[in-house]
Amino acid sequence: MLQRPRRNRRTKAIRAMVQENHLDPSHLVLPVFVHEHAEPHPIVSMPGHSRLSISAIVELGRRARALGIAGLALFPALGEDQKDTHGTESLNPDGLMQRTIRALKQQVRELVLFTDVALDPYSSDGHDGVVVEDRIDNELTVPLLARMAVAQAQAGADFVAPSDMMDGRIFAIRRALDEAGYYEVGIMSYAVKYASAFYGPFRDALDSAPRRGDKKTYQMDPANLREAGREIKLDEDEGADLLMVKPGLPYADVLRFVRQNTTLPVASYHVSGEYAMLKAAAERGFIDFDKCLLESLLCLRRAGADVIFSYGALEAAELLRAAELLAQ
Ligand code: PBG
Repeated sequence: MLQRPRRNRRTKAIRAMVQENHLDPSHLVLPVFVHEHAEPHPIVSMPGHSRLSISAIVELGRRARALGIAGLALFPALGEDQKDTHGTESLNPDGLMQRTIRALKQQVRELVLFTDVALDPYSSDGHDGVVVEDRIDNELTVPLLARMAVAQAQAGADFVAPSDMMDGRIFAIRRALDEAGYYEVGIMSYAVKYASAFYGPFRDALDSAPRRGDKKTYQMDPANLREAGREIKLDEDEGADLLMVKPGLPYADVLRFVRQNTTLPVASYHVSGEYAMLKAAAERGFIDFDKCLLESLLCLRRAGADVIFSYGALEAAELLRAAELLAQ
């Protein structure tokens, strides 16, 4: 035999030498859920995650940063009494989201803060845009998103992250940020976001499931790949700084495609349902959570992710740190 690929896998040192892709905490972003109450409210479908108070989020931010995690993605869980059809609370300079951003910026400076721009956490309809007679109205929604982005920038967001999938919102947000003087605040666009059932546990976390209908008139059809090319081109032209593909592993082919068709950094979102599947299977003893988590995240890197949003970011960073200490 002339070819024996196993020679390059013979020892640990040889394997490390030829390893093609790496996972490091610096690539990871931890999504967190903030609420107004002092006590944590566990999210049943996402073991290990709870809605937390602002001060608990600051503590978590400190831990994440100490482990070398890049940043946090913030999602607010509001009471029903704070929601309305136009998500007005999202613009409140003293609202929950804005206070959380300010607290983190003051107390854990180096953490990169991604703030979600979409109506659903604030909307009594549970949709990402304004509902008019069962339609999601693009033109009524985009100016609200732009104002929401400015409110978040004002509070100290590093990257506003529109996850709403309205047309033309990146351009509107970029213009609004610049006009308000926030030309250094970036936009991480959820450019390629599919209408996925894997978001189920997230909607439990925020109690933000659509009250009527689904999100198929704005989020992409899981059957489509070519359309991803159209979405990323638009968002690039409109001024996005980072492009996201979401969900993660079931869409690894899309991630690869996007990586090959843009010069911008690409992020992948290992979403709530993916995390829940790992936890649930591990709880039943069917898989090893730690190993499957690290493998999932490494596979996303291999598929083309520069940045990975994952509910397992803290656990992954701890595992990577432990492995590093062991190697020394
Ligand atoms: C909504 C939003 C969703 C997620 C992030 N932002 C859910 C949705 O589109 O319904 C999902 C994240 C996850 O499942 O982890 N703007």
